[in-house]
Amino acid sequence: MEFNIEWHDRLGSTNACLKERLLQGFEIPSGLIIAAREQTAGRGRSDRRWLSAPDTNLCCSIYIGTAAELRAVPSLTMAVALAVAELLNALDIAAAPKWPNDVLVGEKKICGILSERVEHRGNAGIVVGIGLNVNMTSEEAAAIDRPATSMLIEGGQAHEPASVLEALFPRLDHWIGAWQSGGFSALRKTWTQKAGPIGKPLCVHDGSIKKSGTLAGFGDHGELLLQTECGLETIWSGDVS
Ligand code: BTN
Repeated sequence: MEFNIEWHDRLGSTNACLKERLLQGFEIPSGLIIAAREQTAGRGRSDRRWLSAPDTNLCCSIYIGTAAELRAVPSLTMAVALAVAELLNALDIAAAPKWPNDVLVGEKKICGILSERVEHRGNAGIVVGIGLNVNMTSEEAAAIDRPATSMLIEGGQAHEPASVLEALFPRLDHWIGAWQSGGFSALRKTWTQKAGPIGKPLCVHDGSIKKSGTLAGFGDHGELLLQTECGLETIWSGDVS
């Protein structure tokens, strides 16, 4: 697919910007990427804030025009997580995707992905926001309330966020293309290899609900299958530890 980038010095949130455009009735070509050198209102999953110092990390959102239904959204996030993990692996950073929307190095988060489905007057698509920690320092990482890391911390080398985005293109093209043609089935093998192994003990928190068990696999749309004492449970969202 063809990607076109629109860079902005300062924006509230690249996800919100793309969504607003669509809701205002603008036609957005599939593959348009909005990237910001600084985000003043970056958002994460579950209404969390996404903090990123100006001119430091990669903050961007990709618009994928698709009529895919809501339950196909999580697996697009997973496709993008595979693309990011693959790029980091090529740079000798031992990153792995983590269900549902993260890329981690060990237990530390290096990338978060936020996908949102939007629809307006027959135009439908998914906005996929990528927050990849590129040049975050150890001091900045320590100020985040959850374990975090960056390409700089892991690889000892600074990178231009714009070059990192361009280096992602072939991998995004591959994994988004796979998702477009086969949905989660096209990702299942690689995802399970990288985010598994099957049988690993997991604890899932979703709001006040907490469930423990072992990873039994992933369903047809990438939902997590948890083997608990009470049987097999299907988990569509939550934080896994
Ligand atoms: C998460 O881990 O909860 C998802 C974080 C997603 C952050 C990115 S940064 C670019 C895009 N714009 C946003 O406001 N959020 C996403």
